[in-house]
Amino acid sequence: MRAHKHSPVGMIDLHSHILPMIDDGAQSLREALEMAQLAWEDGITQMVATPHDTGWGGSWQSTREGVQTLQAEMNNHEIPLQVLPGLEILIDLDTPQQAREGHLLALNDSRYLLIELPFTHYPPYTDHVIFELQVAGFVPILAHPERYSYLKTNPMRLFALVERGALVQVTTNSILGEFGAAVRDFSRLLLEHNLAHVIASDAHGANVRPPTLSQAIEIASRWIGEQQATAMVTSVPEAIVNDQPWQPESPVEPKPERRWFQTR
Ligand SMILES: [Fe+2]
Repeated sequence: MRAHKHSPVGMIDLHSHILPMIDDGAQSLREALEMAQLAWEDGITQMVATPHDTGWGGSWQSTREGVQTLQAEMNNHEIPLQVLPGLEILIDLDTPQQAREGHLLALNDSRYLLIELPFTHYPPYTDHVIFELQVAGFVPILAHPERYSYLKTNPMRLFALVERGALVQVTTNSILGEFGAAVRDFSRLLLEHNLAHVIASDAHGANVRPPTLSQAIEIASRWIGEQQATAMVTSVPEAIVNDQPWQPESPVEPKPERRWFQTR
């Protein structure tokens, strides 16, 4: 077995679009296998497949079938990566009911549900839906809030969600600056204020947005220290895929951005 860079048990990638031909991720089985090989070589031992649920083919049925098929193909190709089932759920008013009735798929069937918001606006029902999911026994993990400009201008919204128990996943390409300096800087702010708990690839292919974590962890280590950065791809996602309770550090309130007309 290849030695892994950050942990003897390897890294766990909680957010990926590796299942082929189900959404805007891998476009062929060949590309999915390439992604699996890249992930393994980077030190990833487990990857959760999280297809988009809305507007795409992602559902709990198609994801479970896709995971089984891909795992069999990876075994045939002697790629030791383990792929686990999940979904990336664009929340809507009926999301809590769907979750309660078992129509959604949490990360590896745990209590942890990967959710996303629209890129255009903060839906007025967001806080209510997240609360209802929590009442139903789920722990929502908000995917890539650093990419939502409406949260960058109002980070207290995110602070309030985290303070009430929501978890946050930041994407590797955001940390690497691939989405621009503003997204990278906001990622850093989230990490430095305990407003982010997991780093994941949100991989969409073998070339663009590949399934690797180690480069982003190197940068995150400079921001928050190696121990904390490494935990975000090892012990924290390990607790999540094993459905164990996990208590994050308390978030630190981000200070408002200083405006040019403010003197102090
Ligand atoms: Fe995604």
